[in-house]
Amino acid sequence: MKIIKTIAEFRKLRPKLTAPVGFVPTMGYLHEGHLVLVRRARAENPSVAVSIFVNPTQFGPKEDFAHYPRDPQRDLALLEKEGTDIVFMPSAEEIYPPDFNSWVEVGKLAGKLEGAARPGHFRGVATVVAKLFNIVQPDRAYFGQKDAQQLLVIKKMTADLDMNLEIVAVPTVREPDGLAMSSRNTYLNAGERKQAAVLYQALNLAQKLYSGGEKDAKAILKQMTALIQQQPLADIEYISIADADTLDELDRVKPSALVSLAVRFGNTRLIDNVAVG
Ligand code: PAF
Repeated sequence: MKIIKTIAEFRKLRPKLTAPVGFVPTMGYLHEGHLVLVRRARAENPSVAVSIFVNPTQFGPKEDFAHYPRDPQRDLALLEKEGTDIVFMPSAEEIYPPDFNSWVEVGKLAGKLEGAARPGHFRGVATVVAKLFNIVQPDRAYFGQKDAQQLLVIKKMTADLDMNLEIVAVPTVREPDGLAMSSRNTYLNAGERKQAAVLYQALNLAQKLYSGGEKDAKAILKQMTALIQQQPLADIEYISIADADTLDELDRVKPSALVSLAVRFGNTRLIDNVAVG
């Protein structure tokens, strides 16, 4: 496994990689959710590259950039075990030199849900992912469905900007009680962690109500809210039932609508989603 820290080094190595190249962009502190992406990339491509870069531009000024968990040595050991060929671990200065001044904005899609709650977040995500795609030049890139809106934004960016690669969506990996795996789960204390299982219960409830014939979004949202509010540490930021392509809110729920939520437990903000039907 080669560890590469500069764009120049990556450029030198890139022509030597056997195509297709599968790529998994990460912010490190890897968990099973990331490793599933790497395994999928490994199974589908002769060359696998993973990036580890905690991208400062996708964090708001009051968000957790400084405290975001980091453990590069552990990450490298895990990636080695999965048979990763190349790990790209640039510094912040390598990606954003002092005179950096170009940004990728993904319009309407990026302004809803997470984009509304975290202004500038998707501008940071789209910009860094575009840069990583330009550096790594992958044939396929792998993203988790847990970040459903991120996946949509990246798909839109690649289509709009004619980027020549396939975006592969990989199902969310969950803990035994249903909590979606996330590096931020490590922020939860024992009480918060226990109560956080309610998020998946609420998403399952939406699924069950929809399958049982309930198509009124307001009615489903009401029951989800009531269930989550039974957990005293849960503070709902939003619950949404939206069109899976446009993210426009729905009055009547239709097949494969995206049910998504953001809920705080103490200082930790968790997101999750399912597609109904
Ligand atoms: O999903 C993430 O970990 C990040 O948003 C990504 C795609 C690596 C960009 O920094």
